[in-house]
Amino acid sequence: MSIAVFASGSGSNFQTLVEESRRQQWPLPIRLLVCDKPGAKVLERAEQLGVPAVSVSPKEFVDKAAFEAFLLSELSKHQIEWIVLAGYMRLIGSTLLEAYPWRIVNIHPSLLPAFPGKNAIEQAVEYGVKVSGVTVHFVDAGMDTGPIIAQVPVQLDEQDNVESFAAKIHQAEHRLYPEVVYRLITGAVTAPGRIG
Ligand code: GRF
Repeated sequence: MSIAVFASGSGSNFQTLVEESRRQQWPLPIRLLVCDKPGAKVLERAEQLGVPAVSVSPKEFVDKAAFEAFLLSELSKHQIEWIVLAGYMRLIGSTLLEAYPWRIVNIHPSLLPAFPGKNAIEQAVEYGVKVSGVTVHFVDAGMDTGPIIAQVPVQLDEQDNVESFAAKIHQAEHRLYPEVVYRLITGAVTAPGRIG
C-alpha cells in the first residue's frame, strides 16, 4: 500500500512530502507522482528524488472518464491507497472519487471557504485581508469544497506583496501538509461519516 501525489506545477509541496515521509519513515511511502502537465518542474523533482512518475495529458483521452480510468490503472499497479493533491490544477471526476472515497485530499492556499479556485494568494492580497492561510480538506466533486481537515492562519503584513505573502503561505503549507497526511494515513484523523 502506498501514496500517490498529483501535481501540475512546481512541486515544492510534493518535494516536502517526499522528504518528510522518508525522514519520519511513514508506514506508507509515496510511490508515485501523477502529473497532467508534461514538462512541469515537479517531474524534475520526482526524478531527483527517485519517485516514479506518470506524466500524461488529459488531451490524449476522449473525455475525463477515460483519462481517469487510465490513471486508475496506474494507481492500482502501484497499490495506491491515498491520493494527495499538491497543486493539481484539475477537478477530480467521479471515476476517481468513487474509487477513492474520502481517500483524496487537497491543500489550498487560503482559509476556505474564502478565496476558492485559482490565484487564491493574489485574491487575498488584492482584497486587502489581514489574515489568510492554508487549508487541507477532503476532496469532493466541487472546487475546493470538501470537508475541512486542518487550517492554519498566515498574517498579511502592511509591507507584504504577492511574492512575499506567497513565500509565507508556502512555508505554512510545507509545515502543515506532511503533518496532516501523516495523521490521515496513520488513522489519527478519520474521514467524515466513517467509523474507525
Ligand atoms: C500551493 O500553493 C497549493 O496550495 C496550491 O497549489 C500550490 C502548489 O505549489 N493548491 P507547489 O507546486 O507545491 O510549489
